[in-house]
Amino acid sequence: MSEPRRLLPLLGTRRHGSRTAMTCLYRCGNACDHPAPNRSDNPYFADLVDAEVTRRGVVRAGAAGALVLGVGGAPAGTTPAAAAPAAPQGTAAPGGSPVPPGFGDFTAPARHTGSGALTFRPIPPNRLDSLVVPNGYDHSVLIRWGDPVLPDAPGFDLGRQTAARQSKQFGYNNDYVGVLPLDRQGRRALLVVNHEYTNEDLMFPGFTTFEAMSVEQVRVTMAAHGMSVVEIERVDGTGRWRVVTRGRRPYNRRVTAHQTRFDLTGPAAGSPWLRTAADQRGRVVVGTLNNCAGGTTPWGTVLSGEENFNQYFVGGDQVPAQDQPRLARYGITTTARYPTGSRRWERADERFDLSKHPNEANRFGWIVEIDPFDPESRPRKHTALGRFKHEGANVIVARSGHVVAYMGDDERFDYLYKFVSDRKYRSGDSWAARRHNLSLLESGTLYVARLGQTSAGEIDGSGRLPSDGAFDGRGEWIRLVSGDRSYVDGMTAAEVLVFTRLAADRVGATKMDRPEDVEPSLRTGKVYVALTNNSERGAAGKPAADEANPRVGNRHGQILELVEDAGDNTARTFGWSLPIVCGDPADPSTYFAGYDKAKVSPISCPDNVAFDAAGNLWISTDGNALGSNDGLFATAVEGPERGHLKQFLTVPIGAETCGPLITGDNRSVFVAVQHPGELPGASVDAPASTWPDGDVAKPGVVVAWRLDGGPIGS
Ligand code: FEO
Ligand code: CA
Ligand code: CA
Repeated sequence: MSEPRRLLPLLGTRRHGSRTAMTCLYRCGNACDHPAPNRSDNPYFADLVDAEVTRRGVVRAGAAGALVLGVGGAPAGTTPAAAAPAAPQGTAAPGGSPVPPGFGDFTAPARHTGSGALTFRPIPPNRLDSLVVPNGYDHSVLIRWGDPVLPDAPGFDLGRQTAARQSKQFGYNNDYVGVLPLDRQGRRALLVVNHEYTNEDLMFPGFTTFEAMSVEQVRVTMAAHGMSVVEIERVDGTGRWRVVTRGRRPYNRRVTAHQTRFDLTGPAAGSPWLRTAADQRGRVVVGTLNNCAGGTTPWGTVLSGEENFNQYFVGGDQVPAQDQPRLARYGITTTARYPTGSRRWERADERFDLSKHPNEANRFGWIVEIDPFDPESRPRKHTALGRFKHEGANVIVARSGHVVAYMGDDERFDYLYKFVSDRKYRSGDSWAARRHNLSLLESGTLYVARLGQTSAGEIDGSGRLPSDGAFDGRGEWIRLVSGDRSYVDGMTAAEVLVFTRLAADRVGATKMDRPEDVEPSLRTGKVYVALTNNSERGAAGKPAADEANPRVGNRHGQILELVEDAGDNTARTFGWSLPIVCGDPADPSTYFAGYDKAKVSPISCPDNVAFDAAGNLWISTDGNALGSNDGLFATAVEGPERGHLKQFLTVPIGAETCGPLITGDNRSVFVAVQHPGELPGASVDAPASTWPDGDVAKPGVVVAWRLDGGPIGS
């Protein structure tokens, strides 16, 4: 790229709620143009910145952000990192295969230093085409679309994209970010990243239509999906990290939509609905699709959610009529051969044509588990965790030792789930313990949530806080299936797991405002749910507002806190409340746990959540409906600072903020900048963003750190 590109006007037309039309087309196949697929009639109960948020402050902070961009590395005198997340020493690898020095609890934070208070000065909303962090912090781009992943990968060449090259390079539209330590000193780690979807307009010069793409270009996009595993190293003891570019890099790996094989595990593996002409046993799937958020397990694997898989399939209209409702419940078009925005992948691989391979779509929509420490291992799709539009899955070990995974189904009026393993987690560093733990997600009990309310009569859709002072209530986990036993009338266990949405419809699960990331705090066991928005809440013929989803036409979303009874994550009952109802703090329908709203940052469309070592909740956003770029925010969830939400960074124009991840030593914040420049009319030749390199927009992973080497935020 040598020619300076013509920049589109920054303020593109926004439709489809708060997302751009372009994001809607590529991300979820224009899901918002169609009715929400849940038509079941199951019952639903029914400044910024401190007081100085001024226009001048915005301008000033924008300049500050630009200055920060110019800072190169950490300054002299940077304090070396203290104790870092580390894998305990373990048994040497058998057969000399590349493995880390040992295994232990990969999710346990190191003992944090500092008070845990979030002392950074929040940044203001902005529409800059740059990544902005608070004064006193710096950031760098760790890796971007097209960068080499495999040691023999070629460099990126926009005009010479092939599937073979892309299969060795970093994929497109990074979402989940996991960082798993490779040593005890916190010097080396594996970065594990999801690549959710592609944007052909922003990838290929001269792109016109999906139909006009060459078959090789289609294969490039298949190779740009999936996951990447990349070895990284800490820079000079600071919070900064860089990609290792020399040596064997034995763990580096690409997982793609068109080549990587996955084993199906659990009760539905081998069931008739998962068998195809190419896999008559129904046990091995080629590829993974639309991998959105995820989670890192205590045993050092990464879970990845297959989300909007529906958009890759055509021919749903020619599937036998009796099977069409099951496809439709998952958002697959059954009224036309080619859905609007169809990617036409069947031109490269006919299994994406449901008229020929009607079961192929059933082989996507799962939670995937990958072992980044065994690059030869075959990743698995766990049927025991159910099939829906999985945002991700986050695991906690309950007091009993059972493993509990919390999950959201990201669609308007869909549900919140949890899985409890049959077997118990084994601690320790032995190979036997790890082998055992690798099997934990293959059998267990799947539940869906039904929420009650305490102030039903006062919920009018305005978001006005009820007179008892809280959006809150009790809740129940409804059992769907346990091992091979179904608890849903008229459905076998395998049917419940393959058609989980329909099973949950039958048992009266609560219809939520798009459950995205669902993550337990490993300090408290409390679970936090990002409910991102719901344009149809309260619309004619649609579910009305309720206490957990209290606003009609919900544009900004809310955070739900779920507290399992007796602090037991395997419990069947829980309490819930909404600590944060998002939006502009000046909007009376917002709520920040009762904190002084004059001191709170505006936030819209929460998507991913994470925790730092001190237990603070970090929230990233997707589709900010307040006019600012998306960003990353943090708040305490315990004590007097609960609800004091502050904005830590913003991503470039057109992007959403994914990840996020705060390392166990609290010194590094990783975020994935997804779909920069994704604004209407943008293309390679007329980019709306030139982040990060000044030419075409490229999704990339960023690490931010504190310049004085101290812990992030505090
Ligand atoms: Fe891919 Fe629900 O975000
Ligand atoms: Ca209440
Ligand atoms: Ca997401």
